Amino acid sequence: MFEKNCLRKFLIGTFLLISINICAQPSPQIANDNLPTDYLKKEFHEGRRVALRNIMPDNSVMAIFAYPTRTFSNDVEYLYHQNPDLYYFSGYKEPHSLLLIFKEEQTDSSGNAYKEILFVQKRNALAEQWTGKRLGTEGAKEKLGISMAFNGNDFKNYSIDFSKFAKIIFDKFPDDIANGNDKADLFDLVQQFKQKTEMPDELSKQNRFDTRSYREITGQLRAIKTPEEKDLLRKAVEISCLGQNEVMKAIRPDMSELEIQGLHEYVHKRYGAEGVGYGSIIGAGENGCILHYMENTKTKIGTSVILMDVGAEYHGYTADVTRTVPVDGKFSKEERAIYQLVYDAQEAAFNTLKNDSKWIDASNAAIDVIADGLLKLGIIKNKNEVARYYPHGLGHHIGMDVHDRGSMRILKKDMVITVEPGIYIPEGSNCDKKWWNIAVRIEDDVLITENGFELLSHFAPRKIEDIEKMVSQKSVLDNYKLPPLESNKKKGF
Ligand code: GLY
Ligand code: MN
Ligand code: MN
Repeated sequence: MFEKNCLRKFLIGTFLLISINICAQPSPQIANDNLPTDYLKKEFHEGRRVALRNIMPDNSVMAIFAYPTRTFSNDVEYLYHQNPDLYYFSGYKEPHSLLLIFKEEQTDSSGNAYKEILFVQKRNALAEQWTGKRLGTEGAKEKLGISMAFNGNDFKNYSIDFSKFAKIIFDKFPDDIANGNDKADLFDLVQQFKQKTEMPDELSKQNRFDTRSYREITGQLRAIKTPEEKDLLRKAVEISCLGQNEVMKAIRPDMSELEIQGLHEYVHKRYGAEGVGYGSIIGAGENGCILHYMENTKTKIGTSVILMDVGAEYHGYTADVTRTVPVDGKFSKEERAIYQLVYDAQEAAFNTLKNDSKWIDASNAAIDVIADGLLKLGIIKNKNEVARYYPHGLGHHIGMDVHDRGSMRILKKDMVITVEPGIYIPEGSNCDKKWWNIAVRIEDDVLITENGFELLSHFAPRKIEDIEKMVSQKSVLDNYKLPPLESNKKKGF
């Protein structure tokens, strides 16, 4: 099938005098009717660069490097994930690249005016046969609308007088950038940047080398979502909720945590989400008490509550949704009491949210409810013990990063944040044993509006009775019956 398809493409390609590279894997830059049409457009990225220039200090340049590639095993790399800042301001998704954005218009030696330069991976037929099509300089100009696009190996000799800038703004470099064989990889781009800017070893000696305001400036923009970003976040959140719902319906005590993870991620992909924004957290029973539990190795989840914190990443934007559900369909008396407390805490936090509200008020509202409740249930003796069972913050921005950039101090219209109170009572806790191993987190994603908020994750039930009802329903996944492994049978597993 693969060969036949490739041969057909080759013949068409030859006919059209297009290079043999047409056999490379499809990617957004190849005309293909089967690709999604709702990617961010070049006008979005251009608009973000305009907004950035408006808040950059006078006479400054910002340098944004791609994230490094990372080894998974021997010569195999982890699936590449672009630095969200580079993607946000350019749309470029490939590694070994550098974006320079200038506050003021610059002029090159030929008299061409420009406000940004993108150094990209050079096209290479052999490399593209193995790892997929590269955009190259022509693609960057045409698809991303960046007129000054050069290959990475041109950076070394590209003439920019960095000494004239009052501020050179960049993020701290990752400390694990490998020096590969390519003389224009990320390692070389960083070295050349240091040489060209005459960067001192100790950055604090010259405050024109500014790594402090990088996150503050980019965070101001990334925290407020544009209409295009809200659309993509809405989709990511809805898809994550549909995953939660289908798993609630399909869940059974003899399933494994890994299987539950697979079902969530299958539903995400079924709706076109490329991946997850963080490692899926599927914690049955005591595993729910580990806040970022990602091993998911329990082979039978059993009948107690299971905490499922899973976020689909859709076209670069990630949701972050947690539901805690009773696997056997009914919350026990103790599980119900803890669940209701977390629910009430979330409601109390919701009631504070609107444009210009203070995040600390939302946080304190949730803490008060949980502290009062734990005291009444006899789980704590004093309200200031609350952090033992509610040990994390109330939430964070979401966007291109699951813990997205930006201040939370004062909430503003068009921020998208999580509201995620939780109570975790590990075995051995200083309370009646009947509470041990109960872990509940309810995490929702909300869009802040002028007078309140929009609950983006309303697609998945939050109330006890609605969750129990969902768990009692049949799932389209129920009929997926797979045979046992032959190799397990032989070994008597
Ligand atoms: N899923 C990670 C978090 O909730 O922050
Ligand atoms: Mn979260
Ligand atoms: Mn989460």
